[in-house]
Amino acid sequence: MNAQLSRFHGWSLFSLLSLLVLVMTALILALNPDLVEAARSAIRATARTSFALFLAAFTASAFAVLVPSSFSKTLVRERRFIGLAFAFSHLVHALLIYTYGQLNPEFWPGRTTVGNIPGSVGYLFIVLMTLTSFKATTRLIGRRAWRTIHVCGMWVLAAVFTYSNFKRIPLSAWYVVPFGIMCAAIAIRVIGKVAQMQKRSHPRAHA
Ligand code: HEM
Repeated sequence: MNAQLSRFHGWSLFSLLSLLVLVMTALILALNPDLVEAARSAIRATARTSFALFLAAFTASAFAVLVPSSFSKTLVRERRFIGLAFAFSHLVHALLIYTYGQLNPEFWPGRTTVGNIPGSVGYLFIVLMTLTSFKATTRLIGRRAWRTIHVCGMWVLAAVFTYSNFKRIPLSAWYVVPFGIMCAAIAIRVIGKVAQMQKRSHPRAHA
């Protein structure tokens, strides 16, 4: 896995991950005879690819502190491109939602404004984080604003994933699995942060 990751880095890693999302989406749409159902399946599938990419970016630095390895270090180094691939996967999620709304006129009227709030706030942060993921824009807003947007954004997205999976548990008990994975990822990130702070305050004890 690490060897594969190190062969693809930076924009080539982003392109590979985005291509895989596109191929998966095209296959789902092509293989399902019912286009409406196909769009819905592809919405679910892109939510899952986004979830996997988000988890990698969300836990990368915690893993690098808690279980240092060349793989966790590679994840930290490639975090920006994994994050951009997450944004791409969620762009496809949004395009499919739009398509599904066109194909099924009952979709939008069947949703409430309150029900759309978590996803919309999630998308607002995805846009802000994507726009500020480039050297020029980072320099423009400054390090502090960048940190505020990206730290808040990661926690907002973690909350949206937790909620999105939790609310589906009554529909299928299988949603306990992604819900549990998200809770574990939150615990890993918090423990990683505490360990990082301890390392910084007592550098010799960890030497
Ligand atoms: C207003 C914006 C959004 C709308 C309208 C929306 C709509 C949908 C729809 C229609 C589904 C498929 C439901 C089903 O067939 O059961 C879905 C699945 C999902 N979405 Fe979104 N979504 C939005 C934003 C987001 C965001 C920002 C996230 C995460 C950061 C997210 C995460 C998920 C998850 C985790 C699933 C479940 C996938 C699964 O079945 O495993 N969505 N969304």
